[in-house]
Amino acid sequence: MAFWSSIVDSPSLLGLLSLLLLLLSNPTTSTAANGFRLGIIRKPTSPNLTVFREAPAYRNADSCNSTQKIHITMTLDANYIRGTMAAVLSILQHSTCPENMEFHFLWSRYEPDVFSSIKSTFPYLNFNVYRFDSNRVRGKISKSIRQALDQPLNYARIYLADIIPADVKRVIYLDSDIILVDDIEKLWEVDLEDKVLAAPEYCHANFTNYFTDMFWADQELAKTFNGRKPCYFNTGVMVVDVEKWRQGGYTDKVEVWMGVQKQKRIYHLGSLPPFLLVLAGNIKGVDHRWNQHGLGGDNIEGKCRSLHPGPISLLHWSGKGKPWLRLDSRKPCSVDHLWAPYDLYRSSIHSMEE
Ligand SMILES: *[C@@H]1O[C@H](CO)[C@@H](O)[C@H](O)[C@H]1NC(C)=O
Ligand SMILES: *[C@@H]1O[C@H](CO)[C@@H](O)[C@H](O)[C@H]1NC(C)=O
Ligand SMILES: *[C@@H]1O[C@H](CO)[C@@H](O)[C@H](O)[C@H]1NC(C)=O
Repeated sequence: MAFWSSIVDSPSLLGLLSLLLLLLSNPTTSTAANGFRLGIIRKPTSPNLTVFREAPAYRNADSCNSTQKIHITMTLDANYIRGTMAAVLSILQHSTCPENMEFHFLWSRYEPDVFSSIKSTFPYLNFNVYRFDSNRVRGKISKSIRQALDQPLNYARIYLADIIPADVKRVIYLDSDIILVDDIEKLWEVDLEDKVLAAPEYCHANFTNYFTDMFWADQELAKTFNGRKPCYFNTGVMVVDVEKWRQGGYTDKVEVWMGVQKQKRIYHLGSLPPFLLVLAGNIKGVDHRWNQHGLGGDNIEGKCRSLHPGPISLLHWSGKGKPWLRLDSRKPCSVDHLWAPYDLYRSSIHSMEE
């Protein structure tokens, strides 16, 4: 226990040193050492929740109409709380009307520490927390290529329309590993036309690769894309007309494909492919600047990636690498330095002061 907390609490060299000392003082066979190392990599880093700095109070500009709300949904989980804090800070800091933001957080179990740390870090934040009952999805999850993608909470976005209050008509769903560098109101105001969802679309990505040969070989399954030009979109940033989502029964539609996946393996990723199966080619495309994704690298190694050219409003560390973990490990990628200014975790100041 003491060992874990030293790794978890000191993101600096100290953690690595104690790890080395432990390995040196504990003669183990190489197999055991490997197993041990794996254990460390898999151990989610829950920061000490009492040590987030308080964010400043962000106030509306005079031009703001305070009766207009912007609804944002994110999940809340002790393992990603450092990302969530940074994301919220970045949203408030770049927004003209920060007091119009209303956050709807979904968590799978009541975590008093997480709640109180949000409260103390953002004393002025309008937010509600809702329980996502992970039993709703547990039997429907198929193992993907990355363990982290198989967490029930990762699937909460499929159910958000049923969880947030019925009077919310539109919501922006955001992953916890994002940073806004522009006013989110510009994304909020997108004209959805007759569509249920808006997100950046990538029509040059080779769509074939998101599904298995088993899928494409099955005429019945593959014909789901007949009559539409399916383009990839990332489900980490979505504007959703929740009213239309409810009326159209989209939760059920996505669930149907998760059921198919349980029978035959038709894709390798987690909650993304069933969204593509239902909605690809049928969404409102928005500028790519609203989701510069993939900054966490691939799903296996999380290698460093550089930014794609073009303007950026939102940075997204999708993929295996997370900026707070890479910064703590002293092996950050260059894009991680763009995340660091939003990090409210106290110890991260200490490590910079050395
Ligand atoms: C977390 O940090 C606070 C403030 O530095 C400290 O008082 C507390 O003991 C820490 N908790 C744990 C579990 O390390
Ligand atoms: C403020 O927003 C509300 C709700 O959208 C709208 O009804 C009202 O007309 C707006 N007021 C002004 C002064 O724009
Ligand atoms: C897409 O990928 C598949 C499988 O890897 C390949 O057979 C196909 O030629 C690719 N299509 C394009 C347009 O590159």
